[in-house]
Amino acid sequence: MKIWEEENQCYVRAAMEQNTPEENEALRKRFEEIDWSVFEHIERKETVNERGVFAPLEAVELDEIRAREAEFREIGLEEIRAGKVGAVLLAGGQGTRLGLDRPKGTLNIGIDRELYLFEQLIRNLTDVTDEAGAYVPLYVMTSNINHDDTKAFFEEHGYFGYPKDEVKFFVQEMEPACDYEKRILMESATEPAMSPNGNGGWFGSMVNAGLLDDIHGKGLEWINVFAVDNCLQRIADPLFIGATIAYGRQSGAKVVRKAAPDEKVGVLCTEDGRPSIAEYYEMTTEMATARKENGDLLYGFGVILNYLFAEKKLEEIVDAQMPIHVVEKKIPYRDVDGTYVKPEAPNGYKFETLVLDMVHMMDDCLPYEVDRAREFAPIKNLHGVDSLDSARELLRGCGVEL
Ligand code: UTP
Repeated sequence: MKIWEEENQCYVRAAMEQNTPEENEALRKRFEEIDWSVFEHIERKETVNERGVFAPLEAVELDEIRAREAEFREIGLEEIRAGKVGAVLLAGGQGTRLGLDRPKGTLNIGIDRELYLFEQLIRNLTDVTDEAGAYVPLYVMTSNINHDDTKAFFEEHGYFGYPKDEVKFFVQEMEPACDYEKRILMESATEPAMSPNGNGGWFGSMVNAGLLDDIHGKGLEWINVFAVDNCLQRIADPLFIGATIAYGRQSGAKVVRKAAPDEKVGVLCTEDGRPSIAEYYEMTTEMATARKENGDLLYGFGVILNYLFAEKKLEEIVDAQMPIHVVEKKIPYRDVDGTYVKPEAPNGYKFETLVLDMVHMMDDCLPYEVDRAREFAPIKNLHGVDSLDSARELLRGCGVEL
């Protein structure tokens, strides 16, 4: 029996009772195309992250970066000028915590004037390209849900002054979603609820979108991938690129010093000898509180979703299966009585791969410390921790007029 024909699939049945035979035929065809095996990960959701043996990984810290600033900067700028650096903006998420029904990057973070999140990110990138005197190709990952709006927003605002032909959009893949009883959720009577498949598949999605030729044609050797929601994000940072190259690593991760042992950030370390990220809930108290001789935390640096990857290595790992994380989210759906419900609290599962698992596929990774007051202002919520309010405060601290 097909999964959508099972007894408990009340949302599908209710939809089919309302549809015309033609609509149901189309719906069945649509269901046939979907890979429902992702639902099997629900049983494995506790063990997806069964981990190996963690060990600390030395970061390049601010003192050293300051001391070697000129050297790192020169190497990074050279690489940018040689056209070897590209950037990928991860903007396919739905920002459900923020509760926006348009792309997160269209959020106005200004107060007395309009300043959009996308705009601020482009400005941050332009700081670098002005210094280098060369552009960095920017690829923007969207999903089917926000692609048209995202593209239209860039068009409407003249790409915020960045050359249009340096910006390319590509769409990530989608996965079905279900409620806690594994019942397929429906977006409408004729469409299942589909969600973006996480930020881990970004390189595969670029390949699927035919962008590999573009990458090769441009001769890109490094790709800096970053999240849409950190408005202080430094993109294609020459020092970060220079340090990763100077250390001879194939990847780098920007990290911030943990504010406290129990801070809820994923920590960059090694796992069975390979670079890895230990989530805060995976760390024992002993691990979280262990200190080095100089008093610093042994596992003291958290990731901020800004990574640099050697392009060649990305091609090597692109077909490898990444762990699928089962995440509880608010998923709007069509109820059995035909009403469209926008839940106030998480009501089901989405299935996502995560870019942080890509780090574990690298042979090595350089944790590169940045000053959180200057580079880390994520906007996940409207108020409170990691919010629009806190980000505005941090932006002001960096002299950005709002
Ligand atoms: P988050 O994990 O914060 O997810 O994404 P989100 O969808 O934006 O927000 P919530 O959890 O629903 O509130 C971190 C980064 O990864 C991108 C987001 O756009 C953000 O830049 N992302 C996330 C994708 O590009 N695709 C996805 O499927 C998920």
